[in-house]
Amino acid sequence: MDKLQITGGRPLEGEVRISGAKNATLPILAAALLADAPVTIANVPHLQDVTTMIELLGRMGVAVTVDERMQIEVDPTGGIEPFAPYDLVKTMRASILVLGPLLARFGKADVSLPGGCAIGARPVNIHVAGLQAMGADIRIENGYIKARAARLRGARLVLETVTVTGTENLMMAATLADGETVLENAAREPEVVDLANFLIAMGAVIHGAGTDRIVIQGVKSLHGCNYRVLPDRIETGTFLVAGAITAGHVRATHTCPAHLDAVLLKLQAAGATVAQGEDWVEVDMRGRRPVAIDVRTAPYPAFPTDMQAQFAALDCVADGVGTIIETVFENRFMHMLEMRRMGAEIRLEGNTAIIKGVARLTAAPVMATDLRASASLVLAGLVAEGRTEIERIYHIDRGYETIEEKLSQLGAQIRRVPN
Ligand code: EPZ
Repeated sequence: MDKLQITGGRPLEGEVRISGAKNATLPILAAALLADAPVTIANVPHLQDVTTMIELLGRMGVAVTVDERMQIEVDPTGGIEPFAPYDLVKTMRASILVLGPLLARFGKADVSLPGGCAIGARPVNIHVAGLQAMGADIRIENGYIKARAARLRGARLVLETVTVTGTENLMMAATLADGETVLENAAREPEVVDLANFLIAMGAVIHGAGTDRIVIQGVKSLHGCNYRVLPDRIETGTFLVAGAITAGHVRATHTCPAHLDAVLLKLQAAGATVAQGEDWVEVDMRGRRPVAIDVRTAPYPAFPTDMQAQFAALDCVADGVGTIIETVFENRFMHMLEMRRMGAEIRLEGNTAIIKGVARLTAAPVMATDLRASASLVLAGLVAEGRTEIERIYHIDRGYETIEEKLSQLGAQIRRVPN
């Protein structure tokens, strides 16, 4: 397994081009199963998770072709085996997103239960309960969700927790159901809106995506379409924090600043000068050390849990004491334990981390545990004294396209070496 070597101490300067959003690409690829003709999807990021989803579709009999510009054609018109095996689902929980489309289009789906993961139990009870309320017969047997439904029927579903993929799965299933489905307490993330826009481009009738109440009128079938995935707001935020933590000046291009309000406000509170345009946003620290800030994660449009680890790294070297409160997942502080090895002063009390900034972190061999935690260790390595080595970086490759190339373009001393 490869590892990353990072020599800290250089302010990052320059422009970085943002890729398409991983968490929009994954549900959109799954939604292609609903169409009765091929779809093409552009601006797809070249990530391990996307490769896994393409492999899953291929295993089911879906013809997927990828061109050199990562434009993907998905042709779900052949014979489809509605089966998502454990060996793939265990590597990517988002595989659960094929459940709703398979059941809606083929009346049948056998999908492996995703196990837990490093950041929490991450059950899928809301996905299952919603499909049952729409008339599906669902049994959990031998670690598989076995779902059957001649035709789903519309229903009013009140989601007990705001769940991004739960909202997405049920919205996809509802597009071909008989009648109207209302999703109350729906997730409002931009990726949910991007999925809704893709489904509408295929002929779905959806209103309210982006609010906590989404209404879907079922239709008989969905046709093909061409679609372009929205930019990745978490990748954008990660590179902006890289600029802030190194006291540098970084501009992210081909992105959507409007999806980052909560993050940009926190960067300004940390002392960054933030400027933005229609499709770009930049931070300039002007050589200053960041000021410690407090963060509390919550569903969109509040501060995103996927940016929590990155801001923890910023607080580790900030002037003052900052607190990080994680309200979405029950175990998303593993990066804090690794940062302590780099000299960070962090106290953990339940879902709260109290971080007293230190002038300098020191390099140490550290281990990535989940996608965003590993990104935060990269950020810490960019400012630590000496050469930091990060192991198990397959976590990073799941969600960041060529992170070392993009960081090197900004002046970082980073390289990937075989373990
Ligand atoms: C999505 O995960 C994202 N993944 C995650 O990004 C992100 O962290 C998360 O939303 C929160 O924003 C994708 O979109 C592929 P949830 P998801 O269902 O949908 C509980 C990354 O780094 N819950 O919104 O799995 C759950 O336990 C990844 O790109 C239930 O209890 O998250 C959690 O506490 C990490 N029952 C809360 O809801 C359910 O049936 C929110 O989870 C479903 C969820």
